[in-house]
Amino acid sequence: MTRSIVLLLAVVTSVAGKAAPKKDDDELQLVQVLIRHGDRAATDQFATEKSGEVLFRGLGELSDDGIDHAFAQGKQFRDRYVDDLKFIDGRYIPSEVRFRASPVSRVLMSAGAFSTGLFGNTPKGHPVIPPIYTKDYADDSLLATAFDCTNGWDDIVKALNLSSSENVASTSLAAMENVMWPDTCKGVPSTKVDAIIAELPNKLIDMPKEYNKCAKDPAKRFMYEYIALLGGAEIHYNEERLNRTVGMLTDELLTNMDKKAACSLNSTCDMGSSEKFRVYYAHDVNVLALAHVFKTIDMFEGMTPAFSSALIFELWKKKDGHHVKVFLKNGQDAEFKESGFSKEYSTLEAVKTVGSKYAINEKMQCNH
Ligand SMILES: *[C@@H]1O[C@H](CO)[C@@H](O)[C@H](O)[C@H]1NC(C)=O
Ligand SMILES: *[C@@H]1O[C@H](CO)[C@@H](O)[C@H](O)[C@H]1NC(C)=O
Ligand SMILES: *[C@@H]1O[C@H](CO)[C@@H](O)[C@H](O)[C@H]1NC(C)=O
Repeated sequence: MTRSIVLLLAVVTSVAGKAAPKKDDDELQLVQVLIRHGDRAATDQFATEKSGEVLFRGLGELSDDGIDHAFAQGKQFRDRYVDDLKFIDGRYIPSEVRFRASPVSRVLMSAGAFSTGLFGNTPKGHPVIPPIYTKDYADDSLLATAFDCTNGWDDIVKALNLSSSENVASTSLAAMENVMWPDTCKGVPSTKVDAIIAELPNKLIDMPKEYNKCAKDPAKRFMYEYIALLGGAEIHYNEERLNRTVGMLTDELLTNMDKKAACSLNSTCDMGSSEKFRVYYAHDVNVLALAHVFKTIDMFEGMTPAFSSALIFELWKKKDGHHVKVFLKNGQDAEFKESGFSKEYSTLEAVKTVGSKYAINEKMQCNH
């Protein structure tokens, strides 16, 4: 008797430690995840002279840490959706799951590594890797943002005194580095901002003390502001850039939830009935912009999204209708944390009203 109570307590505690235990009459119907690639080298330079040996795949490419961390993130999704909620089959059933990734090597590689954590191995110990769909960069308005468009930047050109609306994605960063580099980062060249953030978590790289100090908070706040600028989020709110970055994805997420909810109320409808887990692999800017759309951006606390940062949309069927829960899992070391937004506006209808402000179903106009 005592022993079974102790066992029961242990089970209850371990469930409570994770996100939102399932109530018997609630049914999880669809999970959609937008996730940033794993740890990579900065795209422009290394932080130290030796960094190139550790980050041997080159600038902008996934590191071994990135592979390990994307795998660890996948494993934690397995814990929740395969083991705890028994929502998907851990052996991988193609009709249940769909992966889509932006057409950049580090993103495609991260999706592969995540999926091996999610699905585990064959009985002979080989990883199960699902197909990961993608498109050419120029054709992928879902996940690959066209930063080279010259429209949509007027506010930034003005605020930063840029000389033209060409290449704003890079000229705005240079301008920010000139005028807004934090005092606490004085000993660090501002052009290394991305490199020091990227290399801070890497135990094999020994950065100077002042680099570490800068990378921890000040550089992450600086980078948050730049990523928000690119995506038109928060302090740099801009509807055109938000639409361009996540408008099509917002539309797709809402449409998928709508279809699933409609089908679950209609026994003659089998469209999408078995598909229930969708993963969209992309970049920090997509994650931050989508967090803005669904009023969850405050969860980043003013710091740029971690590698493998994931926003999760769960569609639940409850007695009184369909509800959406939004979670942030900001990296492989973070918990699944429910957004205050989804507690407040949790009906599907309310979430659709909020998201439809930025939902577009065709590519935005892009001037060159
Ligand atoms: C832009 O120029 C104006 C006027 O020349 C100046 O007052 C302002 O400080 C400048 N802003 C930046 C960010 O350089
Ligand atoms: C952004 O998308 C919304 C929803 O489709 C639309 O109403 C709005 O006009 C778009 N804004 C811009 C600037 O494109
Ligand atoms: C149920 O689904 C079928 C097939 O998609 C459709 O023709 C029918 O109108 C739907 N019924 C309801 C009540 O939504």
